[in-house]
Order: sequence, then structure tokens, then C-alpha cells
Amino acid sequence: MMTDKIKILAISGSTRKSSSNLNLIKAIADLTSETFTISVFEGLSDIPHFNPDLDNENPPEQVTSFRRQLREADGIIICTPEYAMGVPGTLKNAIDWTVSSMEFSRKPLALITASLSGEKAHASLLGTLLIIEARMTTDTQLLIQFIKTKVDGNGKITDNETLNNINKLTQSLRKIMMDDSTKLLSAPILMNEGIMNG
Ligand SMILES: Cc1cc2nc3c(=O)[nH]c(=O)nc-3n(C[C@H](O)[C@H](O)[C@H](O)COP(=O)(O)O)c2cc1C
Repeated sequence: MMTDKIKILAISGSTRKSSSNLNLIKAIADLTSETFTISVFEGLSDIPHFNPDLDNENPPEQVTSFRRQLREADGIIICTPEYAMGVPGTLKNAIDWTVSSMEFSRKPLALITASLSGEKAHASLLGTLLIIEARMTTDTQLLIQFIKTKVDGNGKITDNETLNNINKLTQSLRKIMMDDSTKLLSAPILMNEGIMNG
């Protein structure tokens, strides 16, 4: 039986101080406080540019710390905007450091792209996360468009549909941690069928 709260590491793809993605993470932490302990990864801007030459037995300490925090978490929530039709560079850079060390492999993960539009970044990041074997279902990914009208500066979701979708997503994240029989997404499924909304 599980008595302790589930440990979640949340990563915001925006490092902006008043980021709506960060505010969304705060809202999720609030909504799930009975089941999840959510800590926000603070070091995204400090991770050096990925270079395979540095990806050896002595990687930069910021990378070691990132990898350790990923390993220690029961699950991950990534919340990110789209920049210039793609994944923010800082976020993609951090993920690239985990390809060889495989911290995302089999790790329960929820991906939220919260942006103005966000479709391209969402599809791209989903492809990346599935190829590095993150444990996801169609219900642990969510695209939220026009994010600035849906979450306020105090970390409150102000749109009912978004609130419902977030609740469903966090329940689904919990489910894939508890239930081994859930039908997971895999990279080939993504490529053959596509799972984008709308
Ligand atoms: C450099 C830059 C490029 C952007 N490009 C896109 C884009 O391609 N698609 C999109 O949906 N939003 C784009 N946006 C708008 C962001 O979605 C919006 O600023 C969002 O609120 C950023 O997330 P944050 O509030 O968590 O920082 C861009 C913003 C910036 C600063």
C-alpha cells in the first residue's frame, strides 16, 4: 500500500518569472496537494549546451543534478510554451542530456503545452519523449491554447474546460503509476496514427 505522497518533478519550458506555464504548475500543485508533492526544477537555465564530448563519466554538475532529480521523482510533469513554432531551446537542451543516461525511460510523464497556439511544439516534444521511452498515454498529454486567458498570476485556472482537462490529466498520470495494464503510447503509434487533438 502506498502511504506517502507521489513525488513529482515539474519542469517549466519557460524560465520567465511570471510565466503562465509556471503559474499552471502552481495551480496543478494546489489541485493535487493531497496526492502529489510537486517540486519545480529550478536549474533549466543553468544546464550547459549539450555536447556529446562532455557527455562522459564526468558530466557537468548541473547535468548530474538534473539527472538525479529526474531519477528521484515518481513522475514528471512538463509544462511548456511554443517558441517560433518549436520546443523552447532550453528545454530541448536539457532533455538531450538524458538520451544516453535514460532517466525518462519508463518514467510516468504528463506533457502540457500551454501556449498561444502550441501545436508544433506539442507534436515535436511528444515525439522526443516517446522515443526516449517516457511512460505516457493519450490522456497524459494536453494542448492548452490561448494560455494567458486561462491561468492567472496567482496560479489559479480561470477556465472551466481547462480545469476539467487538468484534473483528468493528473488522474491519468496517477493511473499509469498504479496500473501496469494501461495502454501506453509508443513512438510507432505516434508516427502511424497521430494523436493530436483536432
Ligand atoms: C520568442 C517567442 C516566440 C514565440 N513563438 C510562439 C509560437 O511559435 N507559438 C505560440 O503558440 N506562441 C508563441 N509565443 C507566445 C507564447 O506562447 C506566450 O508568450 C506564452 O505565454 C509563453 O509562455 P509563458 O507565459 O509560460 O512564458 C512566442 C513567444 C516568444 C517570447
